[in-house]
Amino acid sequence: MQNTDNAARAFLTMVSLLLLVLSAASGIVHAADPCSLASASTWVSSKVAHACEVNVPFNKTRSLSVVDSTIKALQYYSLETWFIHSPNPLIPHDVNVRALLENVNRTTATTGYKSDWDFNIAITDAFNKEADGHTLYAAACTESFSWNIPFSIATLADSPFDKTAFPTFLVNYDFPNQGRAGLEDYFESIGVHVRPLDGSRVLTIDGVDASTYLVNLATESSIFKGLVGAYETVNPRYMRLMSRYSADTVAGLYTQEVGRFGQRAFYPGADSVTVTLQTPQGAKKTVTIPWAATFLGNGNTTASFISETCLAGVDSVARKRKLTRRSIDASPINQRRKAVVAPEAQDPVRHAAGGAQVAPAANIVQPNLTSFGHFVTLDIYQLADHPKVGVVYFQQFEPSDDTGANAYFDGISDTLFSGLNALKAAGVEKIIVDNSGNRGGFIFAGAIALWSLWPQDLYPGFPAVYRDSDLIRRESDVAAASGLGESEYSYFFYRDLNYKLFQNNSQFLDPPVPQVINGVQDAYSKQFLDDFGDSSADVTNFTTPPFAGEDYVFVANSICASTCSVFSSYLFQKHGVRSAVFGGTPSATVSQFDGGVKGSEITSYDEILFELELAGLDTDPAAPQPFPVSAAFTVNFRNAIPYIDQKDGILEYVFEADTKKYQFTHDQFNKPQKIWEFVAEEFFGH
Ligand SMILES: *[C@@H]1O[C@H](CO)[C@@H](O)[C@H](O)[C@H]1NC(C)=O
Ligand SMILES: *[C@@H]1O[C@H](CO)[C@@H](O)[C@H](O)[C@H]1NC(C)=O
Ligand SMILES: *[C@@H]1O[C@H](CO)[C@@H](O)[C@H](O)[C@H]1NC(C)=O
Ligand SMILES: *[C@@H]1O[C@H](CO)[C@@H](O)[C@H](O)[C@H]1NC(C)=O
Ligand SMILES: *[C@@H]1O[C@H](CO)[C@@H](O)[C@H](O)[C@H]1NC(C)=O
Ligand SMILES: *[C@@H]1O[C@H](CO)[C@@H](O)[C@H](O)[C@H]1NC(C)=O
Repeated sequence: MQNTDNAARAFLTMVSLLLLVLSAASGIVHAADPCSLASASTWVSSKVAHACEVNVPFNKTRSLSVVDSTIKALQYYSLETWFIHSPNPLIPHDVNVRALLENVNRTTATTGYKSDWDFNIAITDAFNKEADGHTLYAAACTESFSWNIPFSIATLADSPFDKTAFPTFLVNYDFPNQGRAGLEDYFESIGVHVRPLDGSRVLTIDGVDASTYLVNLATESSIFKGLVGAYETVNPRYMRLMSRYSADTVAGLYTQEVGRFGQRAFYPGADSVTVTLQTPQGAKKTVTIPWAATFLGNGNTTASFISETCLAGVDSVARKRKLTRRSIDASPINQRRKAVVAPEAQDPVRHAAGGAQVAPAANIVQPNLTSFGHFVTLDIYQLADHPKVGVVYFQQFEPSDDTGANAYFDGISDTLFSGLNALKAAGVEKIIVDNSGNRGGFIFAGAIALWSLWPQDLYPGFPAVYRDSDLIRRESDVAAASGLGESEYSYFFYRDLNYKLFQNNSQFLDPPVPQVINGVQDAYSKQFLDDFGDSSADVTNFTTPPFAGEDYVFVANSICASTCSVFSSYLFQKHGVRSAVFGGTPSATVSQFDGGVKGSEITSYDEILFELELAGLDTDPAAPQPFPVSAAFTVNFRNAIPYIDQKDGILEYVFEADTKKYQFTHDQFNKPQKIWEFVAEEFFGH
């Protein structure tokens, strides 16, 4: 089998050389098209895949228009001036994204870029440096392959109390619900046999001490190495590289994440990785493992890849935009606001994984506990060894399947109400809230969860501000005058800090509130609260808190962003909820229980364009324009104001330290049930 394949490959190489020779001789260029080679089989080498990406030529006109609009969109980015310099050394941010983009603009206008890929990655790099999971530009053209190696890494110790843990080599072919189909056959066919190495300690990676290599990788989080920062501090970024348990797949099934070390959404920057391992038998072994790629885009030649993937949908953008708002769901704007970080795997990979689900019975990650409620992204259990302790696992705050927003909100509310009451009836007195890997979702879903736990609180969430430019001020004036409530800038969607509805736009965005941040003159709205109605009775049947603050403890791996962060921060800041944090860099002694962007809302570029069109300001010289390419671009849209440590201004800069920090061990890293029993014993005893 292997020989035949090698022979076939040698033949192909010969053919392409021959084609090159022929075309050189005849003066006609038709060497085998790199994108045809890259899309011809399910798995190809990363070299072959990347050759397709860089074969898309740089286009100066098109690129100038992209960079110009990203710079104009910065006025909507509420963290731009804050992130120039962080006042909190525990949460470093020293990035001037405007200056970075202006540099890209200069290069685009002068020397240009080697290829379209190099241009797009330069823009992505500028936003990725912010390490703000809400704000990122990703051209479809640069994200049309999924890059994979057959192993993941988990940093494991012998005991949860060890001060240091060690990177461990995990063959990832059998990870449940991770879409690894065909990967093993591919690696076996090219002579890479990793199964015997499973469980080895990783000593070095590319010649560097493994822990140092991984911490550096997490610290740099370079898009040129295929990594998106997304989380603000190094521990969650490190955890994102790692394999870890979660339930964040399409159907909410339990899984073991491949982690960003083993799977990248962008070209990993090298075609192989060399690791020195100490096998479980004690032998030392050095292996070089090539990256493999699978094509997720459309097109089978460079020309069709450009038209069907890179430029796809450009013509219909305006039409799509008009439809977006009204066709999603009937729920009002307030309920559709989102704070969510992009999922770990690209959509086609997630959906492929969702289609070939590993049934719960055969899933080693799945807890074997009595369920007191399951709804899409929410699971409620009673522990077996600590029957006075219940578990509420919030896997995320939005459905990844086709559950509609309203059905989702009702389901979360009903499941919490029935589940927590049933737990109490079964003698449960304490609750573990697991939020490991929760990347956020609907702000309203987080609010329903908060209001269910504290129904007597006036308002479940944090005050917020929008950034306010002259253009935004004019958008808000049009929204106020129209009174139709199609715009997020409609003052009547918000309440003042006494939770009274705003009466006019002068209480909100016009006039702006000037602020000097990091030496830059900036402006924001007045502080406001989202309008979730007057009473929790609209969203929950709880009238008194089912448990007290001291009865809860979070189980976290630091990956908790956006709505998850707002939810967890609120429980911590208002009700003193404690936390048990697992993992992080091998020798970290302290972590946040939430490590992701805490800014309270994300907006998409299409929404920004939609709002401008709505206000009749889309041709204003200050307005960003539709991209001439297909790209996903999202922006952190407003800042949350904390209840504690207000001296640093925004929730982003409050370091929310764990109560206790533990290592993942060989025994429990892929078994949440064991983690929960351990935490129950640690925090609540018997
Ligand atoms: C470059 O992009 C512009 C603007 O999108 C387009 O009109 C032009 O045809 C492109 N040029 C080439 C050579 O593809
Ligand atoms: C980008 O470069 C173009 C061409 O040099 C220039 O006209 C434009 O002002 C620049 N835009 C920004 C925001 O720097
Ligand atoms: C690409 O796909 C088209 C349509 O399916 C087909 O006609 C064409 O032969 C394919 N080209 C290559 C190079 O595979
Ligand atoms: C699940 O737990 C029950 C009750 O403790 C036990 O009988 C059963 O064997 C367990 N199943 C698995 C797959 O571990
Ligand atoms: C806006 O409403 C507030 C509260 O009712 C009121 O005090 C204020 O005068 C109003 N401002 C304008 C400009 O109407
Ligand atoms: C409260 O309970 C009633 C009846 O049991 C149910 O119809 C209603 O939907 C519940 N309300 C909420 C907000 O869950």
